[in-house]
Amino acid sequence: MSVTRAWGQWLAALLMVCALGATVARGQAQQVQISEQAFKDVRELRGIPVKEFMETMGFFAAALALNCSDCHGEASGSSWANYALDSPLKTTSRRMIRMVNAINKANFGGAPVITCFTCHRGNQRPKAVPSLALQYSEPPEEDPDEIEPLAPGTGRPTLTADQVLDRYLQAVGGAAAAKLTSYTAKGTYDGFDSDFEQRPVDVYAQAPDKRSTVVHMRVGDNVTVTDGRVGWQAGPSDLTPVTLFPLVGGSLDGARLDAQLGFPGQIKQMLTDWRSGFPPLTVDDVPVDVIEGRTAARGRVKLYFDRKTGLLVRSVRYSRTVVGTVPITVVYSDYRDVPGVGVKLPYKWEVIWTNGRGTFNITALQPNVAIDAARFGRPAPQAARN
Ligand code: HEC
Ligand code: HEC
Repeated sequence: MSVTRAWGQWLAALLMVCALGATVARGQAQQVQISEQAFKDVRELRGIPVKEFMETMGFFAAALALNCSDCHGEASGSSWANYALDSPLKTTSRRMIRMVNAINKANFGGAPVITCFTCHRGNQRPKAVPSLALQYSEPPEEDPDEIEPLAPGTGRPTLTADQVLDRYLQAVGGAAAAKLTSYTAKGTYDGFDSDFEQRPVDVYAQAPDKRSTVVHMRVGDNVTVTDGRVGWQAGPSDLTPVTLFPLVGGSLDGARLDAQLGFPGQIKQMLTDWRSGFPPLTVDDVPVDVIEGRTAARGRVKLYFDRKTGLLVRSVRYSRTVVGTVPITVVYSDYRDVPGVGVKLPYKWEVIWTNGRGTFNITALQPNVAIDAARFGRPAPQAARN
């Protein structure tokens, strides 16, 4: 069973239970909360922010191809409090966390070089005997997110990062791109957390790096916001164990990147240490040029541009957790002219990460409007509706 499908089923089950009116534990909203304050029984993954803690759970699910309820039991579907209950897989996982920490400490100076994925690779029980079928079959298709630059001097010469970015700037409207300074947009969202039901979305964006995305879920609003310096995530207690928490580290870096990418005219200044030289790559039958840059917080970001149109079709960034690094991919499509400005923006994007997947579709966009500064501040914790 694929992880993503498993997640969907878990969320569908959770939503059904909620719809039936079961009581769901209410997460406490606090300013800066670390794992052992937010949760009931954290023994190994202590002292990390809530978001990072949830990303470690996504990491486990991805590494072992398990559903949350495989480790946390069916009762976890009815209450966040039940996630604190023990199960054999949870107990083994705690032992595995200690084992992995010991391996990394003894061999790699404590850096998370060996992770759950190194051994498990999507298996609940890692395979120990080499597979002859694997050895003598065609190599599997390349994962576009895994692509790495070739050593300098090897392979065909590729476009420089500057050339790729110039083509992109031309494709999105040239000088007109700088004329977009803010916008509000309406559209729909569907993903695992909405059980693939289309829900209304509002996006508020202001150059260079402010953005607020509000998904009106059935049980309350999911809000992700950054003012370019700090960021927040808020959601209803049916959907998140902690209803309001600050974004830090890789999550803040990522939210800022999403905000900045909303204003294509500034792309060259958004990242530093640009590099090209990735091997030729085709994603979904489209040949792409890949380049990489670093955020202000030194996070790696890979950007994939359609070789024919020059448009950005994919970004991959990374969030570091105590058990290893998780990738976050965004796939952009449906580029349209923003009315009256002459700049092109993607009206559709799909976000894919280890514990979720969701698609945004913009249906109406209003450029260069005044947006209340409070939109980009700390959101109110979501009131429960039941
Ligand atoms: C491979 C097993 C495994 C999977 C899969 C898994 N978890 Fe966990 N989870 C754990 C372990 C182990 C802990 C305890 C960590 C510790 O003690 O430091 C934990 C703890 C938690 C807690 C804290 C409970 C409390 O109050 O103490 C929450 C919430 C949680 N997990 C949510 C999830 C969600 C949501 C998913 C699905 C994305 C998930 N987990 C997937 C193993 C797993
Ligand atoms: C060095 C290799 C290695 C690493 C790294 C590793 N595991 Fe394992 N894990 C194993 C092996 C081998 C088994 C199977 C043991 C057995 O068959 O009894 C296993 C079993 C498990 C099981 C029990 C599966 C079952 O069906 O009983 C869980 C849960 C698990 N690992 C979680 C994790 C988590 C979470 C991490 C990362 C923190 C991790 N493992 C990292 C090698 C590894």
